[in-house]
Amino acid sequence: MSDIDTILSTLELVAEEGIDVTEPTYKDFFEVSPESISLMEHMDHLMRGRMLNALIMMVMMPEGTPKVDVIHFEVKTHSANGVKPIMYLQLFQSFHKAVKGAIGDRWTSDQEGAWQREITQLMQRIEANFAAL
Ligand code: HEM
Repeated sequence: MSDIDTILSTLELVAEEGIDVTEPTYKDFFEVSPESISLMEHMDHLMRGRMLNALIMMVMMPEGTPKVDVIHFEVKTHSANGVKPIMYLQLFQSFHKAVKGAIGDRWTSDQEGAWQREITQLMQRIEANFAAL
């Protein structure tokens, strides 16, 4: 199974069980990234929900030009709002943690590995895009 398929299977499990990871994701994110609270204070729950959906889409996208373009677009638009690379890492980690928490003791080392590799790869691209701004 590819890493993306493994990640998809974890997200499907969470969806099948009707668990909403939005709240735990942002709760953890604001704890580890207090600087992001003021950046996002004007965003209501709908905006925050749309942002998390966009993040989920990004994580689920297979390798290829559309994924590269989406990352480029998000870095470009967000950097104008003062979003820093570390904040992406913190948000990805908070999302990862929320999904892992929802799955509980069924979480496997393969799933952990797939998530870690995907976050590392996304961060390499995000940092490269920041460097090229
Ligand atoms: C891969 C990660 C991310 C994705 C895919 C993403 C996506 C989005 C999207 C789609 C919106 C528009 C929401 C709407 O429809 O109203 C948005 C807005 C916003 N995002 Fe993110 N975001 C990401 C990471 C971050 C991070 C790490 C921060 C740091 C705090 C952040 C801060 C914001 C802010 C402040 C806005 C509101 C901008 C405005 O007022 O127009 N985002 N994001």
